[in-house]
Amino acid sequence: MKIVRREKKKVISSESNCHSMFLLLLSILFLSAGCSKMSHVISTKSKSPDAGNVVNFNRDWKFAKGDHEGAEMPDFNDSAWEKVRLPHDWAISGPFNPKEDGYAGKLPWRGTGWYRKKFMLEKSDSGRRIYFDFDGVMAFPKVYVNGKSAGQWDYGYTSFRVDATPYVKYGENNVISVSVDTRRQGTRWYPGAGIYRKVTMAICNPVHIAHWGTYITTPELSDAAATVEIRSSIENHLDTESKVTVEAIILDPDGHEVTRGNKEGTVSAGDTCDVDQSFVISKPQRWDINCPKLYKAKTIIRKNNKVMDVDETTFGLRTFELTANDGFHLNGRRVQLYGVNLHHDHGPLGAAFYTRAMERQLEIMREMGCNALRTSHNPSSPELLELCDRMGFVVWDEVFDKWDDKAGRVRGEPPLKEYSEKHIRSLVMRDRNHPCVFVWSIGNEIGNQPSDREGKSPQRIKYMSDFVRKYDPTRPVGMACHIPNTVEEPILDALDFTGWNYGHRYDRYRESYPDKPIIYSESASTLSTRGFYELPHPNRKTEFSSQHQVDSYDLNAASWSDIPDLEFKLMEDDSFVAGEFVWTGFDYLGEPTPFSREAKSSYFGIVDLCGIPKDRFYLYRSYWRPETTTVHILPHWNWPERISEIVPVFVYTNGDSAELFLNGKSLGRRQKGAIPQKPENLAQGKSATASSSQEENNHDAASANDADRTTRWSATAAGADQWWQVDLGEVKTVRYLEIDFEREEKNYGYEIKVSTDESEWETIITKSTSRMPRWGGPSQIFHEVDAQTRYIRIEFTNMQGEAWASIKEFGIYSEKIESDYYDVTYKYRLRWNDVVYEPGELKVVAYKDGRKIGEAVMQTAGEPAEVRLTPDRKKLKACGEDLCYVLVEALDDKGNLCPLADNLIKFDIEGPAEIAGVGNGNPLSIEPFHADYRKLFYGKAMLILRTMEGQGGNVTVTATSDGLKPAKITVKSEACK
Ligand code: GAL
Repeated sequence: MKIVRREKKKVISSESNCHSMFLLLLSILFLSAGCSKMSHVISTKSKSPDAGNVVNFNRDWKFAKGDHEGAEMPDFNDSAWEKVRLPHDWAISGPFNPKEDGYAGKLPWRGTGWYRKKFMLEKSDSGRRIYFDFDGVMAFPKVYVNGKSAGQWDYGYTSFRVDATPYVKYGENNVISVSVDTRRQGTRWYPGAGIYRKVTMAICNPVHIAHWGTYITTPELSDAAATVEIRSSIENHLDTESKVTVEAIILDPDGHEVTRGNKEGTVSAGDTCDVDQSFVISKPQRWDINCPKLYKAKTIIRKNNKVMDVDETTFGLRTFELTANDGFHLNGRRVQLYGVNLHHDHGPLGAAFYTRAMERQLEIMREMGCNALRTSHNPSSPELLELCDRMGFVVWDEVFDKWDDKAGRVRGEPPLKEYSEKHIRSLVMRDRNHPCVFVWSIGNEIGNQPSDREGKSPQRIKYMSDFVRKYDPTRPVGMACHIPNTVEEPILDALDFTGWNYGHRYDRYRESYPDKPIIYSESASTLSTRGFYELPHPNRKTEFSSQHQVDSYDLNAASWSDIPDLEFKLMEDDSFVAGEFVWTGFDYLGEPTPFSREAKSSYFGIVDLCGIPKDRFYLYRSYWRPETTTVHILPHWNWPERISEIVPVFVYTNGDSAELFLNGKSLGRRQKGAIPQKPENLAQGKSATASSSQEENNHDAASANDADRTTRWSATAAGADQWWQVDLGEVKTVRYLEIDFEREEKNYGYEIKVSTDESEWETIITKSTSRMPRWGGPSQIFHEVDAQTRYIRIEFTNMQGEAWASIKEFGIYSEKIESDYYDVTYKYRLRWNDVVYEPGELKVVAYKDGRKIGEAVMQTAGEPAEVRLTPDRKKLKACGEDLCYVLVEALDDKGNLCPLADNLIKFDIEGPAEIAGVGNGNPLSIEPFHADYRKLFYGKAMLILRTMEGQGGNVTVTATSDGLKPAKITVKSEACK
C-alpha cells in the first residue's frame, strides 16, 4: 500500500519523553469536521481556502457482490449494481442460514464484493495530493483509481490511507473501485463484510501535515500548570526543500485562545520532518470521566506566508496511574473501573458504523454506571474514541484478538513481526492523542508457544510492546491473558500490566509479579435472554433451559465464568485490581454460548442486541451507582399456568432492604446480606464407609461428609467398583442429593443406591460417562430423588482417563436446597424465594439506612390491546447518517406492558427517513434485520430509522398489528448546517 511512511526518525526530546509512562497526554483528531458536538454528522470540511479539503466520501457508491472482471476499469458498466451509502455491511441483510453454526451469526459474510464510485476533482486542485482514508474495510481490500492499483490492506479492523495522487485526473471524472474479500478472514464472531466504516478524501497541498501527523503529550500536569508538547510531522512532496512555519494555537474548553506559538522547520524534498513545540497552560482544566474538558490545538502550516495545511486536534489534560496495589488513579484519586467489553457490531445494523448508534450504546452504558470500555478485541472506529473523550469513558484500546487468521494472517504469513508493527502503528498513531485511551493491549487470550504456533513467547511480547512504545511511550502496554501457568516462563516480563479474563486466574501472576498492575479484563460472562424466565431455578450456573433461551433470574453463567455478584465480591476483596470489564455490555452477533448451534447472537449482554435492558442492567446499576435510586422487580407477573405455585421474586436496588407486597399483602422485608437458613445435611457427621480410602493422605471416608469442602474421600485405586456409603442412622425421607466431586463429572459413571437394611439395594440414579463438555464441566452435581432410606451408597463405574473415585462433600436433604454458589446473591440482591403466585399487583418499597428511597410496581397484564412507539430522540439531523431508535411495545387495555406478547408488527414510514434495521433481541430469531415488520419478543421490538441526506421534514411512523390499536409518532429531521 502506498502509505506515506517516510518519517525521518527524530528522537523524542527527553522533555517530551514523559518521566512516568502514566503521566498523560492527549488527543488529536484527524477527523475532518471537528464536529465534536454533533458527532453524528460527518461533513465536508474546508480547511481554509488554500489549505485543501477533507471530503466526506460516503455517498453515491455502487456495490455488487461476487467477482466482477474488469470492475476496476473506469468504463466498467456498473449500471445494474446496487446504489449504496457508506457505511455498508453487505451481509447484515441476510439471509440467515439456519443450518450454519451460530459462531459468526449465521449470516452470509464470507465472500467477495466490489464497490465503485465516480468523483470529480477540480482543475484548480491540480498539483495537490489526493488521499483516501479508510477507517475500516472487512476485509483484504484492494483499491484501484482509474483502473490502476493504488493500494491494499490486510486487516479488517485497522484504518489506512491510500495515496491516489499518481492515478487521479484533475478537472475530470475519476473512478475509485474497491474489491473486498472476506474468505480468508478468521473470526470468532460476526465480522461484517464490506466498507463498514467511513471513507474520507483528503485533498492536500504538496506540503502538508502527515497522516496522523499531530502528536500531543502533556509531560507535566499540576493544578497550577500543564506543559503541552505538540509534535507536527510535515511531509514535503515537492522536488525542492521547503522551509515551513508551524503555528500552533491552543483553545481552552470554552473555545478561548490560551496560548500560541510559531516554529520554523525545514523539510527536504520528498521527506518528512518533525517540528516540536512546547507550551505552558496555567490553571489547566482537567479531562475527567465526570467532567471531560477538552482543549483544542489548531496547527497551521505556512510556506512563504501561504497557508499550506490546517489541522485541529482535540486533546485533554489528565494524569493517570495504574498501580500494583491500589488499582487505577485518575487525576490523583482512585477510580474503580466499572467497565464493559463491546464487540464492534450494532445488532440489526451489523458492522456498519454509525456514530449515533455508538453514542446511544455509550448513553445506555453510562446510565448503568459504566465508566470504561474495552474495544474487544480490535481497533474501533475512530468516532468511538471521540465519543469517549467527549462523554468521559476510559478506554482499553486493543489491536488483536489472536495473532493468527483472526488478525488477518494466514498460515503464518505475513511474518508476525512486520505485520504486528504495521497494525500497531496504525492503531497507536491514530488513537494516541485521545485522553480516553488509558492502556494499549496487544492481544486477547493468546496461547503460549510452542504448543500454539502463533502464540506468545518472551520475544514476541517484547517486540510487540516495544512497537507500541515506539509510537506512544506514555501509556502502559498489556494484554488480556487466560492461562495462569504462563508465569512459569518469563513470557509476560516485557508488559507493563496484564489483564486477566475470569475467575482467580490472576492469582499466580500476582504472586510472580507483585509490582505489576492487574486489570480484570473479562468478568462475568453471565448469560440471559431478555424477558425469558423458567422455573424452577437452575441447580447450578451451567444448567440451561431446553428452550435454547437463558433464564433471566441471572443465575446462569458460562462454565469458565460467573454471575455478576461473585465478581462484585471479588473486586471488593481484591482492591489491588483496577476494576472489571464485564463480558459484555451489549449482546452481539455470533458466539451464542451455550446454544452455539441453534442461536445466532450472544446471551452475554447486559442489554440485548437492540439495546433493551435485561434485568441484569438494573443489578449493575444498583451496584455501580449506589447514590442513584434503582428499584427493579423481576420476573414479570404473568404466570397463568403457575397459580398457587411458587414464583420467586428478586429485587435489584441500591437500597439495603425492601418490603414486598402482593395484592396489598406484605410478603415480608428482606435485608441485603441475610442468607436464608439451609435445611440440615442429613449425611453430615454420620457413619461413612468406603471400598478403600487413602488414609495416609487423610482422604478417609469421613472427609466426604464433614462439612468441609477442602477435604475429600479418595479411593486407593482409580478403577471402577469403588464405592462410598453413609448410614443415616434411621430411615429418612430423602428428596435431594448434592455431590461435590473432586473432578468434573464426565469421565466416570456412577450409580446411587438406597437401602433400608444394607442388604437389599435399589438403584435410584444411573449416570454414565460422557465426553462432554469438551472443556471443563461441573463437578458439583444435584439429583432430585424421592426415597425412604437409611443407607445411601454411590458406586463408581466406567472410569476413563484421569477419572478418580473422589468426593469432597456428599449432601443428603429432605428438600431441595440452593447451591451455596448462590449465597453471594443475597449480598447484592433482595430475594423472596417462596412467593405463591396469584395474579394482580406486586409492589416493592425499598429503603436505605432506614429511609424509604423508592418503590416499584409490577402488574399482571391482560391481553395485548394496543401498540406503543417510543422514539429515543424527536429531533434528527438530515445528514443521511443520523438514526432514531423507536421502541415498540404491546400494552393491554389498561396501559400495562404485556411481557409475553409476540404480535407481528408492521411499520409504515412517511417522510425523509428509511428503515435501517429492525430487531427484537431474540438470539434464536432469524427474521431478517432489513424488513418493515417485526414480531415482538417478550413484549418488545426495535425499529431503527435512518435519515435521508439533505432532506429535512417530519417523519411519521405508523405501527399496525392484527387485532391491536395502531400507534403513530412523528419525529423531525432537520437540515444539517
Ligand atoms: C473469553 C474471550 C472472549 C469471549 C468470552 C466469552 O475467553 O476472550 O472473546 O469469547 O470468553 O465468555
